[in-house]
Amino acid sequence: MHEIAVGPPHPARPLIPGRRCVVTGSAGFIGAQLCARLVRDGWSVTGIDGFTDSYDPVEKVMRAAGLVRTEGISLVVGDLCELDLDAAFAGADVVFHLAGRAGVRASFTDVDRYEHDNVTATERVLAAARRTGVRRIVYASSSSVYGNGETPFHEDAVPGPISPYGRTKLEAEQRCLGASGHGLEAVALRYFTVFGPGQRPDMGLRLFAEAAVLGRPVTLLGDGTQRRDFTYVSDVVAATVAAADAPADGLPVNVGGGCDVSVLDVLDLLRDLVGNELVLDVRPFAQGDVRVTSADLGRAQRLLGFEARVPFAAGFEREVAWVRGRLDRRVPVPA
Ligand SMILES: NC(=O)c1ccc[n+]([C@@H]2O[C@H](COP(=O)([O-])OP(=O)(O)OC[C@H]3O[C@@H](n4cnc5c(N)ncnc54)[C@H](O)[C@@H]3O)[C@@H](O)[C@H]2O)c1
Repeated sequence: MHEIAVGPPHPARPLIPGRRCVVTGSAGFIGAQLCARLVRDGWSVTGIDGFTDSYDPVEKVMRAAGLVRTEGISLVVGDLCELDLDAAFAGADVVFHLAGRAGVRASFTDVDRYEHDNVTATERVLAAARRTGVRRIVYASSSSVYGNGETPFHEDAVPGPISPYGRTKLEAEQRCLGASGHGLEAVALRYFTVFGPGQRPDMGLRLFAEAAVLGRPVTLLGDGTQRRDFTYVSDVVAATVAAADAPADGLPVNVGGGCDVSVLDVLDLLRDLVGNELVLDVRPFAQGDVRVTSADLGRAQRLLGFEARVPFAAGFEREVAWVRGRLDRRVPVPA
């Protein structure tokens, strides 16, 4: 993909007094909401995204279109493995590195893409950050690095990822943390299943909500006893902003919602929210699906001042309303 500078990352656009940062993955679910929050906080933001084919790129382009009209944000479009990152990073204090290929299931069939987007891209980001004098990198790691480890997951536990996704996230995280002390500070945030309006279209809660709102069968992988520590997107964004200055250099830090919700609990709540019985299409457990995730939040509370503010039920209600609004606005396709 070619580099297209959408809104130049230089003083042609009046800069908001404050600090400058880079957000990779700025057209992604979390990255776009992080960019919006950072400019509200007074940062000048350069977003980078390659609109990869991990899911419908139109969804990413729409998020970017929302950002590009915002004063204080400029966007660079292209693959992190090909772009001239030095130009984009010049003058940045912090790089929030959220770009990556997310999702466990697809990682079993597309290992090369996961290596490219998670490991090779991170290596390039680190090299450019060192060359350009970036002070800190905040890396979006994942609870997937723990696999089926003992719960609650503590950052000091030995990681044991059980999918190529988890393995590539761990490798990238280790490279980031390994850079700490060599002219760059690094913090790896281990996000736990992030949800809320704008969620990626391949994620369970969104798939459930779309099927239920459309009155279609809801596909359930496994028996629904899997339990997740779901984390609302604005809480993840708050933790990520805090990580720019927190005394956490060289450390992984869990970012979890502090809830313990089974998939069956999700379906019960969804039934109430849509006001209909759900028709379930039950299939076997997905490969790489861990049974339980649960974050030990002591380090996040201590070092980031983190506190999850949005409880699961309230957050899921907002996501279902967002899904409904989106589907209502769809242009009907002629028969
Ligand atoms: N959503 C979650 O529940 C969750 C949980 C744990 C960790 N994470 C991590 O957080 C980050 C953001 O997740 P998300 O849900 O917003 O995902 P997302 O797929 O919506 O966003 C990632 C963005 O990165 C971009 N990208 C990927 N590879 C790129 C490359 N080589 N060059 C340029 N751009 C590239 C994609 O186009 C995409 O817009 C990811 O790194 C993911 O692994 C997410």
